[in-house]
Amino acid sequence: MYQITVNPNRSIGSIDPKIYGHFTEHAFANIQGGFFDPGHARSDELGLRRDVVECLREVKVPILRYPGGNFVSNYHWEDGVGPRAERKKRFEYAWGAVEDNQFGTAEFIQLCRATGAAPYLCCNMGTGTLDEAMNWVEYCNSDRPTHYADLRREHGFEAPFGVRYWGLGNECYGPWQMGAMDARDYAKKAMEFGKAIRFADPGAHLIACGFESDPAWNIEVVRELQHLVDGISVHHYSVDWGCFDLDDYLQLMSISQFVDELIKRVRAVIEGVTGDIEHPMKVSLDEWNMFGWLNPRVDDDRFYTLENAIVTASILNTLIRNCRVVDMANYSTFVNINGALHTTGTGLVRRPQYYVFKLFTHHMGKVLVDSEVVGEQFETEMPIDRRVSRNYLNEAAVEKGGRRRTGIETGVRRSLNYLDSVATTDAGRREIALSLVNKHPEHDLECAVDLAGGVELRGAELHTLWSAHLDDSNTEDGERVRPADPQPVRAGGSVRLCIPRHSVNVLKMRY
Ligand code: AHR
Repeated sequence: MYQITVNPNRSIGSIDPKIYGHFTEHAFANIQGGFFDPGHARSDELGLRRDVVECLREVKVPILRYPGGNFVSNYHWEDGVGPRAERKKRFEYAWGAVEDNQFGTAEFIQLCRATGAAPYLCCNMGTGTLDEAMNWVEYCNSDRPTHYADLRREHGFEAPFGVRYWGLGNECYGPWQMGAMDARDYAKKAMEFGKAIRFADPGAHLIACGFESDPAWNIEVVRELQHLVDGISVHHYSVDWGCFDLDDYLQLMSISQFVDELIKRVRAVIEGVTGDIEHPMKVSLDEWNMFGWLNPRVDDDRFYTLENAIVTASILNTLIRNCRVVDMANYSTFVNINGALHTTGTGLVRRPQYYVFKLFTHHMGKVLVDSEVVGEQFETEMPIDRRVSRNYLNEAAVEKGGRRRTGIETGVRRSLNYLDSVATTDAGRREIALSLVNKHPEHDLECAVDLAGGVELRGAELHTLWSAHLDDSNTEDGERVRPADPQPVRAGGSVRLCIPRHSVNVLKMRY
C-alpha cells in the first residue's frame, strides 16, 4: 500500500510551461517529410503538414528549438531565406546529407505561429561567424530601416519575428560537432556572441551550451557567462547515445533519477561558481529522449512502447520536481526518428509518448506543491557516465568518426519508489493534479491519497494511459497505448485507488 500526502497550501515553486517544449532539426525525416512536405495531400500552401501542426497544438507546445542539433554547427541561415527557387543546396556535414534549404527561418516562424510555440533559435558557433549571428538577430527581430531587417521585409515579412530565445551553439565540446572547441575557447566566444545578441535585442533570453557529464566544462562556462546568460543547456539521451542498458528494465526505471541528479549537478556548479544559491541562471534540458537517433530501429513504431511512455512520464515528473531550477526542456524530436509522432505515406502515428505529453499539458498544474510518497521500493544499479570533455575529446576523435562511446559501466545503487508521483495546483482553481506513474512491471499498486493542511476533498477523477503489455505500441494498424476515458473516483475525506501495473496516470482532485 502506498500512502501519499499532498499539502496544496505549501507551494514549492512555479512550473514553467516551457518544460513541455520540443526540438526539431534538419535531419532524416524530421523536417522534410515530417513538419514540412510540400505537395502532400495533408500539407497547406506553405508545405506545412496540417495534421502534424494540429498535433502540436493538441499538446499545447510552448516552445520549439530549431534548426539543430549537430546540423546547426555548419548551417548558414542566409541559405534558407528568400524565394525558394533561388535557395542553394548544400552538403550537410553533421549527417552527411544534402540540405535543399526549402525550409528555413521564415517557414520555421510560420510553423511556430501556426502551433502557438515560441521560437528558440540556436546559433552556429561551429563554422558560423559572429557577424552572421548578429545579422540573423537583425533579420528576425529588428524594426529599424537596416539591411537585414529590410531583407526580411523584402521576403514578405513586414513585422519582426520576435524571436526571444537564442542558443549559443550546440554541444560545442563534441568531436562530432563542426568547429568543436575546449571550454575556455567556447566561453570566450560565447561571451561575444551573447553580448552582441543582447546589444541588438536587450530582451533576448540567452542559453549557453553546457555539458551534462563534465563539470569542468560547466565551471568554465558559468564563470565566464554568469552575468550574461539566462540558462545553460544540457542534453540527455538514455540509451544508444547514452549509457543505459535497454535490456535492464529496472535500470531503465532509474532514468528519471539519473536526469534528476544530472540537473542537480549542473545547478551545484551554478551555485558553487557564483557563490549565490539564488542565482537566476536556469538549466535548460534542450534535447532529451529515452532514445538517441542511431539505433537501427528508431523509425520502427513498434520500438516505442508503453515502457517508453513510462520513462517519458517519469522524466516529466523530474522536470516538475526541479521547477525551481529547470525552466525549459525540448523533447528530441517531435516528429519522426525517435519522435512522439511518425508520419507515414498516408497518415500519422501517435506514439505512446505523444499521449504522455498530452496528459501532462492538459492536466498538470502550474505550481508544484508539497507531497510525500511512502511505499514499496526497488533497488537498481544506475550507469556511471564517465565522459569528460578533454579526455573524451581526444579519445573519441580517433575512434569511429568521434561518435559517443558505448559500453555500460554500473555501480551507483539507488532505492526508488515504484510509484513515481508529483503534485501540482493551479492558483485560484482549487484543483490538485497528482501524476502517478506505476513503474512496477507486474503489480497494480494500492494507494491512499490524503490531503494535509485541513483541506477537504470534494471529488476526483483518474486519467490513465495503460495497455496490457509493456511492449505494446501504436502503429498504422492500430493504437494499443492511448488514454482511457477519465474515471470518477470516490473521494470521501481521502482517495483510495488501485494504480494499474506499468501505467501513467493523472489524478485530478477538487477541494
Ligand atoms: O540525436 C540528435 C543529436 O544528438 C543532435 O543533433 C545533437 O545535438 C545531439 O548530440
